[in-house]
Amino acid sequence: MKAAIRYYTRSGNTKKLADAIAQALGIEAKDVTAPLDARTEVLFLCNSVYWAGVDGSVKQFIRDNHDRIGTLVNVSTAALIESSYPQIRKLCEQAGVTVSDAEFHCKGSFQMLHRGRPDSEDLAAVGAFAGKVLGEAG
Ligand SMILES: Cc1cc2nc3c(=O)[nH]c(=O)nc-3n(C[C@H](O)[C@H](O)[C@H](O)COP(=O)(O)O)c2cc1C
Repeated sequence: MKAAIRYYTRSGNTKKLADAIAQALGIEAKDVTAPLDARTEVLFLCNSVYWAGVDGSVKQFIRDNHDRIGTLVNVSTAALIESSYPQIRKLCEQAGVTVSDAEFHCKGSFQMLHRGRPDSEDLAAVGAFAGKVLGEAG
């Protein structure tokens, strides 16, 4: 099972999730400037929203790597919205990328909101989530 982790972060919140997945799976987490070097069965794409939208570099990554992604698993942090999943799903549909129904989302700190998130419970939860997803993917 070839799996990969990519992330985009501005203040470090989403990178914490990516690093927790990396630790759980024993693979490296790289930012979205690193293209996939080979066909990847399961891609954990860790991202967030800024003024209600995902960053342009995340959109670009999906477009540039669409033919190397088997199934994309969305992992996100945000302060207010419940998930970036609907946006990522739409981008993937446009690029012809399959998206897993399984996703992980938790609060990410922003100004006075959600101090300390993601916290140790979030990191344990995302690690367990990633292990379960890979286990189910065979
Ligand atoms: C410039 C900026 C704009 C943001 N806009 C939103 C927003 O529209 N909705 C929301 O839920 N969170 C918003 N947030 C909060 C981020 O989604 C949250 O802090 C997230 O965890 C940031 O992840 P990062 O540290 O990996 O960049 C915003 C944060 C920043 C810095």
